[in-house]
Order: sequence, then structure tokens, then C-alpha cells
Amino acid sequence: ACISLNFDHYVDSCPWRVCRCDGDVRGSSVHIVPLHERWDMEDACAELLNTQWQRSMGARLHSLRQSSANYPVCLLLLEGERRVPNEKLIGHARISRVLGSRSLFVESVVVQSELRGRGYGRILMEGVERYARARGCSRLCLTTHDKQHFYAHLGFVQSRPVQNVGTLASLVPLELLHKFCHMAESDAEKSGGSADTGRHTPPPLSNAPRVPPPPPPLLPPTLEHTPYTDIRGLPVFWMHKDI
Ligand SMILES: CC(C)(COP(=O)(O)OP(=O)(O)OC[C@H]1O[C@@H](n2cnc3c(N)ncnc32)[C@H](O)[C@@H]1OP(=O)(O)O)[C@@H](O)C(=O)NCCC(=O)NCCS
Repeated sequence: ACISLNFDHYVDSCPWRVCRCDGDVRGSSVHIVPLHERWDMEDACAELLNTQWQRSMGARLHSLRQSSANYPVCLLLLEGERRVPNEKLIGHARISRVLGSRSLFVESVVVQSELRGRGYGRILMEGVERYARARGCSRLCLTTHDKQHFYAHLGFVQSRPVQNVGTLASLVPLELLHKFCHMAESDAEKSGGSADTGRHTPPPLSNAPRVPPPPPPLLPPTLEHTPYTDIRGLPVFWMHKDI
């Protein structure tokens, strides 16, 4: 309630800059910028991520250095006047392509622990949306183990798994990746991309013997339950938001 947002975006020679949004949290200026335009923030960014998800500094920096306009893009939420010494890193989110669609996959969303609960997470995610829209994307996808209520509050709904490109794009030509996954993705999008409840049965053919419908799932997907697990077998929520 103590937060006022006054987004002011502008366009210059790069079309995505339309999403460089400025907000005002308790009177201070915040802005979103890709890491690959602010390599001076690399160490601060690695520390922020490592505070939340421990990795070796070398591995973390290696992953961050993949940020580029061709994806993945690491977006930084910064506070303070641009490029003055007291400019501070507030948050980070990484976005990469989703195969066969105009969607982007969002991950590693994090706000400095001492600044949580003050509206920065919302500003960060709104900045991600603006960036994605300005780059012609129409949907954000993500997974979460326990922040499903936060994302639902920001307009995300539960959905099916998608295949994000991640770092594969730097190894395999994107056209090839898209070709492999196009059919699966278009099937998913044709059916609305919403969580698979197992209730979509095709109409029976006139002379075909009647096949009994599959049993209903034990529990429908809710924010308390997900039908999906990650590679470690932990429950994971797949969510998306059309932007
Ligand atoms: C998740 C995270 C980024 C949220 O950032 P934050 O700055 O604390 O969030 P905000 O204060 O901007 O909250 C934005 C809105 O979401 C709501 N919200 C925040 N957490 C929520 C939750 N767990 N459940 C429901 N609503 C939530 C807030 O009430 C606020 O609502 P409002 O804007 O209508 O007033 C932050 O808690 C974080 O970095 N967590 C650790 C890393 C992590 O788990 N990341 C997610 C990985 S999937």
C-alpha cells in the first residue's frame, strides 16, 4: 500500500527499450536493464543469485555471461540514479525462448532478501512483461515449487509444461530446435495451453466401438496441488501469463 508506481517508458533506436520502465518505490527511482548492458553489475548479480541458490562463483558467472540480446537475457532491477556509485541491484530475472512459440520462459526471479515484501517483485515481473512484449512475445511461462500464489496474484495461471531453449540455442541452430518441437508446441497451444486435467476426450467415431473415457484425475490442478514433478521428483507448478 505504501508503493506508488509511475511507469514512464520511452523508445529510442532499439525497439525493446520501450520496456525500460521506471517506477517509484518509496520515492526512489528503479529501472530494468539487461545484464549485457551492465557488466559492472555482474558480481553483485552473482552474489544475489548465490544467496538464494548456492552455486560456485565460477559456474554462476559463466551462466550470467550468456546474457545477450539473442537470449537468454538476464534482466536486472536497479535502484538509484543510472551509473552513479550508489546505484544498487534490487532483483534479477532470466528469460529464454520457448521452443516453437512466441513465449518466453522466466526463471531465477529473485529480490534481495532484506527488500522483499515492498513491491519490488511486482516491479521486476512487470518489467519482464514489458521487455517481452516489446520483443514481440505474447506469453510468459515459468515453473515454481512454492511461489505459485505470488505468480497467481500477478495474473499467472497453471498450465502444461513447455520446452525452454535455455543455453541449447548457442549450440544448436534455433530453426532446427523449432522444427523438432513445433508439433508438440502447436498441439499444446491449440488445446489452450492450460493445465491438462485429462478431461479432453475426442468425440467417438460413428461406427467405432465405444472406448471408455479415462478416469478423472484424482485431484484437479489447484494452487495447492500440481500433477507435475521436477527431475528430482519434487512437485512443481507450471504457470503462464498471456501478456
Ligand atoms: C518471490 C519474490 C521475487 C517476490 O518479491 P517481493 O518483492 O517479495 O514481492 P512484492 O512485495 O513485489 O509482492 C508483489 C505482490 O505479490 C503479493 N505476494 C508476494 N508474495 C506472495 C505470496 N507468497 N503469496 C501471495 N501473494 C504474494 C504481495 O502481497 C504483493 O501484492 P500487491 O502488489 O497486490 O500489494 C521474493 O520473495 C523472492 O525473491 N523470493 C526468493 C526467491 C524465489 O523464491 N523466487 C521465486 C522462484 S520461482
